[in-house]
Amino acid sequence: MAFTIEINGTKRSVDVDGDTPLLWVLRDVLGMTGTKFGCGMALCGACTVHLDGSAVRSCITSIDSIGESRITTIEAIAATPSGEHIQKAWLDHQVPQCGYCQSGQIMSAAALLNEKSKPSDAEIDDAMSGNICRCGTYVRIRNAIKAASQAQGKRG
Ligand code: FES
Ligand code: FES
Repeated sequence: MAFTIEINGTKRSVDVDGDTPLLWVLRDVLGMTGTKFGCGMALCGACTVHLDGSAVRSCITSIDSIGESRITTIEAIAATPSGEHIQKAWLDHQVPQCGYCQSGQIMSAAALLNEKSKPSDAEIDDAMSGNICRCGTYVRIRNAIKAASQAQGKRG
């Protein structure tokens, strides 16, 4: 079945079964491999993308549930207001270790700042709790989110 979805500001048409997860469409059909496969069961956060600015797990988001929602992936996150600050903070704080979880971490962090420009520690922990990092970069992630929040506040 044919579906037309909007990804990073561009309409894309794909011909897949309606229950195909968005993650499969991104990686296997469209070749957008920045979004990672970890567990396939909404348990790790590696596959996180945005739907209309909010974080979703693309491994459990079927293509037929997306409708007119705008999809943003890691490939375009730097072009969003919060994503620009998050990406810079990630670099400044040297957050990644192996890097595998990091596109999902960045997408969840950017979604958090879309909703709350000045999150508390508890709000950061709550928003990021579904993103697992086997390298244990959690302290740097939290520091980078705080730095991005401050930078975003300065620029309004
Ligand atoms: S691959 Fe989607 S949450 Fe793990
Ligand atoms: S940086 Fe290695 S899993 Fe997170």
